[in-house]
Amino acid sequence: MKKMKAVGLQQYLPIDHPESLLDLQIEKPSAKGRDLLIRVKAVSVNPVDYKVRSPKDKFEDMPKILGWDVAGIVEEVGPLCTLFKPGDKVYYAGDITRPGCNSEFHLVDERIVGHMPKTLNFAEAAALPLTSITAYEALFDRMKISSFSKDNKNKTILIIGAAGGVGSIAIQLAKWAGLTVIGTASRQESQNWATALGVDYTINHYEDFVSQLNLLNIEAVDYILCLNSTNNYWTNMAEVIAPQGTICSIVETDEPLNLTLLKNKSVTFVWELMFTRSMYQTEDMINQHKLLNRIAILIDSHILKTTISEILYPINAENLRKAHAILENGKTIGKVVVEGFE
Ligand SMILES: NC(=O)c1ccc[n+]([C@@H]2O[C@H](COP(=O)([O-])OP(=O)(O)OC[C@H]3O[C@@H](n4cnc5c(N)ncnc54)[C@H](OP(=O)(O)O)[C@@H]3O)[C@@H](O)[C@H]2O)c1
Repeated sequence: MKKMKAVGLQQYLPIDHPESLLDLQIEKPSAKGRDLLIRVKAVSVNPVDYKVRSPKDKFEDMPKILGWDVAGIVEEVGPLCTLFKPGDKVYYAGDITRPGCNSEFHLVDERIVGHMPKTLNFAEAAALPLTSITAYEALFDRMKISSFSKDNKNKTILIIGAAGGVGSIAIQLAKWAGLTVIGTASRQESQNWATALGVDYTINHYEDFVSQLNLLNIEAVDYILCLNSTNNYWTNMAEVIAPQGTICSIVETDEPLNLTLLKNKSVTFVWELMFTRSMYQTEDMINQHKLLNRIAILIDSHILKTTISEILYPINAENLRKAHAILENGKTIGKVVVEGFE
C-alpha cells in the first residue's frame, strides 16, 4: 500500500495547541468513476477550515483531513472521466463531505474542477477557487444579477466585509458586471486593499450604514452581499436595501432572522453555500466546472486578478497552524496560501 504526506487532526483543539494539526502519513488513494487524482501543489485556507476544526470534545479514529482550495496537476483520471487528462493543471474547491486537500494527492469529482488560469502560478491560482465560486454563484446565480454591464447602469451593490477572501473577488466580479460597488472595511489597510481592487466607495462596518451612505448621496442600494455576521447586520441591511432589492448572505446566523423587516419593500433574501452543488450532487453540479473555466478566462484576459496576499512554504502542520491562526483573527486581507510538500 502506497503512502503519502498529509496534515490532519484527531482531536479538535485550539490552534495554539501543537497537536491541533498533525503531520501524517496516510494511504495514497486511486481514482475511480468520475474522480480525478490530483497532485496537490498549493492550497489556500478559508474560514471553513477553522470552523470545522473548532474545539470540541470529539476524537477521530481515522485522521480528518481539512482544506478545500487547491491548485495542482491531474495525476490519474477515473474510468468515467471525460473533461481532463493526466498532466492538466487544475484548480478547485472540492466537496465538504469528502476528505480535504491538505495531502500530497487528493480525489475530486471532475465536474467541480476547472482548468487553471494559464497566466498564474500554482500559489496564485490556489487563492481563487472557493471564494470565486462563492462570489460568482452569489451574484449571478442567487441574486440573478445580469453579467452584462449595460443592464446594470445605475445599479449599486453593498459588499459587507469587502477586503476578505470572498469580498476581494466579489468586488472585481461586481465591477466587471458594471455595478457601482460600496465595500465595507474597518481599517486603513483593508480600505486601501478594497480600493485597489476597484470599490467605488468604502464605508465602515462598525458604524451606521444609513448615515454613511447618505454622506455619499446614496439613499438605498439595489443589492447587498453579506460576508459577515448576518444577524448583526440584519436591521442595517433592511434599512438600506432599495424597494424590490435583493440581499444574499453566505454566513450562518446564530439567531432567527425577522423576515418581516423585508416585507414592505418586497425584498428578496437568498442564501449562498458554495458546497450545495457537490453536497447534494445536483444535476447542475457541472456548472462549477464551467464557472471555474470562466474565471480562468477572466484572469487570463486581465479582467480579474488573483487575491493572494501571503504565501507560506511548505505545506506542513506548522504552516497550516500558522495559516489557521491568521484567518481566525478575522482581519485577513485577500487570501493566505500554503505551497509545496517537501
Ligand atoms: N456560504 C459559503 O459558500 C461561504 C463561502 C466562503 C466563505 N463563507 C463564510 O463567509 C465569511 C467570510 O469569508 P472570507 O473568506 O471572506 O473571510 P475572511 O477572509 O477571513 O474575512 C476577513 C475580513 O472580514 C472582515 N471583517 C471582520 N470582522 C467583520 C465584521 N464584524 N463585519 C464585517 N466584516 C468584518 C475584515 O475586514 P476589516 O479588517 O476591515 O474589519 C477582513 O478583511 C466566513 O464566515 C466564511 O465562513 C461562506
